[in-house]
Amino acid sequence: MTAGDWVCSSLRCLHRGTSLEFGHIEDGGLRCCYHGWLYDVDGRVLEQPGEPPDSSFGERISQRAYKVQELAGIIFAYPVPTRRCSCPATMCWCEKTAFDP
Ligand code: FES
Repeated sequence: MTAGDWVCSSLRCLHRGTSLEFGHIEDGGLRCCYHGWLYDVDGRVLEQPGEPPDSSFGERISQRAYKVQELAGIIFAYPVPTRRCSCPATMCWCEKTAFDP
């Protein structure tokens, strides 16, 4: 994740339910402000500070994350799992050329 990317994910952290709206965007993801779990754009857990080093818990869970796309100045979020998403860029009514002057 880098500045300018759009991401749509669940509001609550998987650890203790803290609101991720207070999280920090860091290189590679969103870090929870409470205990510092780090999620990538697909909701995978990248880091779990405080968990035992041999814990595989983070590999077995993931945050809900949805595909987001900006078209013609409008942000579209698709509330379906990323794997099943078909974005509107493939639909004729919102192809970029339809909005060009
Ligand atoms: S509540 Fe988010 S890391 Fe603990």
